[in-house]
Amino acid sequence: LAKVAIVGSGFIGRAWAISYARAGNDVALWDQDAGAPAAALDYIDGVLGTLNENGLLNGRSPAEVRGHMSAAATLEEALDGASHVQENTPEVVEIKREIYTRLDALAGPDTVLASSTSGILPSAFTEHLKGRARCLVVHPINPPYLVPAAEVVPAPWTDPAVVIRTRDFLIAAGHAPIVMKKEVDGFVMNRMQGALLQEAFRLVEEGYASIEDVDIGIRDGLALRWSFMGPFETIDLNAPGGVRDYVERYYPLFARMHETQQHMADWKGKLLDGIEVDRRTKLPKDKLVERQVWRDRRLMALAAHKRRAADEIGE
Ligand SMILES: NC(=O)c1ccc[n+]([C@@H]2O[C@H](COP(=O)([O-])OP(=O)(O)OC[C@H]3O[C@@H](n4cnc5c(N)ncnc54)[C@H](O)[C@@H]3O)[C@@H](O)[C@H]2O)c1
Repeated sequence: LAKVAIVGSGFIGRAWAISYARAGNDVALWDQDAGAPAAALDYIDGVLGTLNENGLLNGRSPAEVRGHMSAAATLEEALDGASHVQENTPEVVEIKREIYTRLDALAGPDTVLASSTSGILPSAFTEHLKGRARCLVVHPINPPYLVPAAEVVPAPWTDPAVVIRTRDFLIAAGHAPIVMKKEVDGFVMNRMQGALLQEAFRLVEEGYASIEDVDIGIRDGLALRWSFMGPFETIDLNAPGGVRDYVERYYPLFARMHETQQHMADWKGKLLDGIEVDRRTKLPKDKLVERQVWRDRRLMALAAHKRRAADEIGE
């Protein structure tokens, strides 16, 4: 198995460490802030037990997974022998540029340099590098040890062999890579989330439904199927004759809707004020962290359920 260097050991760095180590890789954590890797390992110690209780450590014990992780004192030490670097520094293009310049100078020629960036295109911080062909984005959904999908996004100059190697590495670590053919703002998942949010804001802005009812439509409606099928498989199963039959039946409806979906709601003004009041009435600000813990527990239960259901019923 491989050695992974985690560069930037905050929220996402520490989460990737769990994901990669649980697959049996050795993981070295480094951060510009000297105390961050130790803090990340403390956090990880707290999570491994719960993951184990939910059967989410690939049959390994917490101690075994933890044994694959270490804090590196220097970037050179972290990179020594690493075949995959997962970069998780702040979402600022100048920082990405600077750290990639260092990584490209220090890492061995065959090391893949993958960035977790949520929304910066890989071309924006790798163009100037000698080793730009081994650079790409691997964008996770937080936390990657519970959410398998990760977007693999090449820059125009990324070597296709690096994309394939990264895809295979992610699959071996239990991930479900989305392999993009070229870069675009929002990659795949935020583009789809963006389309849905646009409609959610519009429905509320135009007075068709309450905030709660929009949430019900996903939480107790569409997302039940979406938790194990994508939109294309969903429509293929929603008409007796499959996807073509679905389109023949419902195309006119979707075409009519499209007419009224071509403007952006004003996310920032009175609409946001109203949404915030609604949310803060349901969840006071000082309860946000508690609720995030609840969300992660629900996510863990769902991840465990999905694994079990895939084994017992089939993918
Ligand atoms: N938080 C999320 O939900 C999420 C999801 C997907 C992707 N991401 C992406 O992951 C990246 C990191 O986000 P985060 O939420 O983990 O942030 P974070 O603030 O928790 O962690 C950033 C870490 O980088 C360190 N750092 C700062 N400058 C550095 C440098 N020059 N070299 C090395 N380390 C440095 C900081 O000390 C900190 O520990 C961002 O690009 C973000 O867009 C975040």
